[in-house]
Amino acid sequence: MSAATRPQALQPAAATDPILVVRGLHKHFGGIKAANGVDLEVGRREIAGLIGPNGSGKSTLFSLVSGTVTPDKGEVRFDGRDIAGQSAYKVARLGLARTFQIPALFDNMTVTENLLAAAAEGHWAGARERAAETLALLRLEHVADNRASDLSGGQQKLLEFGRAVMRQAALILLDEVTAGVHPNIRKIILEAIAGLRERGVSFLIIEHDMEMVRNVCDRIIVMDSGRVVTSGRFEDIVRDSEVMQSYLGRPQ
Ligand SMILES: Nc1ncnc2c1ncn2[C@@H]1O[C@H](COP(=O)(O)OP(=O)(O)OP(=O)(O)O)[C@@H](O)[C@H]1O
Ligand SMILES: [Mg+2]
Repeated sequence: MSAATRPQALQPAAATDPILVVRGLHKHFGGIKAANGVDLEVGRREIAGLIGPNGSGKSTLFSLVSGTVTPDKGEVRFDGRDIAGQSAYKVARLGLARTFQIPALFDNMTVTENLLAAAAEGHWAGARERAAETLALLRLEHVADNRASDLSGGQQKLLEFGRAVMRQAALILLDEVTAGVHPNIRKIILEAIAGLRERGVSFLIIEHDMEMVRNVCDRIIVMDSGRVVTSGRFEDIVRDSEVMQSYLGRPQ
């Protein structure tokens, strides 16, 4: 799909007044520099894609931004507030949600209970109605009363996404949410992302599938060795074959 033929909901938004600003973010794990001076921005209503080789620090960046890991140093501004080093609970309440690469579900709870638990960490008002809407949005109604551990891998990814949706976030960080899922579930997720963006939600999406990146993201941010090495439109990034070979590990 070219930019010209994208659905309206997937058209790029203005990149002014970013909802997320990261500056000079560092995190070392022993000798590993998982974040080594990360600088990036996500615009309001932007869908930004975050790509880079395995181990380049993408998931760590999500953990640093969302408060599950504390940075060594650096700045994280969300919606104008400094949130670097804030607890995950507080960051979630401010309206920043993230999914985990390996779904972080309550295995012994039902699908609906998992959604309600996510609301309890954020905004409880209207949670039951939102859970019903989220079940419908993600076509999970038929498994609403099943335990999370009984879901298929793809359904677990959907539920992980649904938990982020339940938080009524202004910015959602998605960590490989479509990796390994059936095309039908991928379509459900993509439609949900487009619909949420129409309602004003911004996204930062870690993704290895270049077709998905091309179709969904307004702008691509490339990480390598704990830092952002380049960013731009998909077409410009893939044209730079050096970037593709060095950072994505495959010639185009
Ligand atoms: N809690 C931790 N303790 C020690 N090392 C860690 C920890 N978390 C991440 N790392 C290391 O930091 C580096 C970056 O890992 P990270 O998971 O952020 O990469 P990634 O870009 O998400 O990779 P992938 O594409 O494989 O998911 C890796 O070398 C990883 O082993
Ligand atoms: Mg990762």
